[in-house]
Amino acid sequence: MKILILGDVMGRSGRLAVKKNLNKIIKENNIDFTVLNGENSADDGKGITNLIAEEFFQEGVDVITSGNHIWDKKETVEFIDKEQRLLRPENFAQGTPGNGHGIYLSKNDKKIGVINLMGNVFMKKTDDVFEIAKKMKNKIVLRKNVDFLIIDFHGEITSEKMAIGHFFDGVSTAIVGTHTHVPTADTRILENGTAYQTDIGMCGDYNSVIGMNKDNSLKKFLKDKNATNHFPAEGEGTLSGIIVDANDETGLAKKVTRILLGGNLIN
Ligand code: FE2
Repeated sequence: MKILILGDVMGRSGRLAVKKNLNKIIKENNIDFTVLNGENSADDGKGITNLIAEEFFQEGVDVITSGNHIWDKKETVEFIDKEQRLLRPENFAQGTPGNGHGIYLSKNDKKIGVINLMGNVFMKKTDDVFEIAKKMKNKIVLRKNVDFLIIDFHGEITSEKMAIGHFFDGVSTAIVGTHTHVPTADTRILENGTAYQTDIGMCGDYNSVIGMNKDNSLKKFLKDKNATNHFPAEGEGTLSGIIVDANDETGLAKKVTRILLGGNLIN
């Protein structure tokens, strides 16, 4: 079983990197299931539209995860309940539109669970992520309800991400961090068999400040009165994520490979 997980797609550059490379990666690597984080994929880097979500699905994405920017586009509240393949974090308050997890069928007819969580440290207020993680651990069980389980933990700090990684080690196929827009070099299989990377980075233009125009971003930091609202950098994007090769019997990872394709980052 081959699973592709891509980090935060940022604006037009990120979408173009996906459009240009996704089909090829899926074919060349025999990918059975693809997840990406789409919460920054709108033109201005804030939120996601129905049309963009549709484009991702047509390009081969199976599930889109998100985080703090999920409600940046008003229309998302309206279509998220109908679109089961778009997730918002599970630990948003009860009654929030949409779902934080789902069980899907892969191209090769396997049951794949996907859970989206959001960190508590330096993030918008949400329910305690470790409490919700405990509930989800009992609810979606490998080899019982699902064949494979993928978790996107959208968070700011490395310690919280690493802790949640160990919490799901051995009971999920892969757990990845998103949100910081910078890939970490700790791609590995944890000791009980779960593929892990603290942050799988951004699909977007790295000649920027986490995807935003660097000149304007610097002006903001320097308190220059000519600074405007942040807007995305639009140079060539890098595609950033991991491919997990998982064992069909156990649902655990056999191999994990980091991918960095195009743009400014060197693989
Ligand atoms: Fe985010």
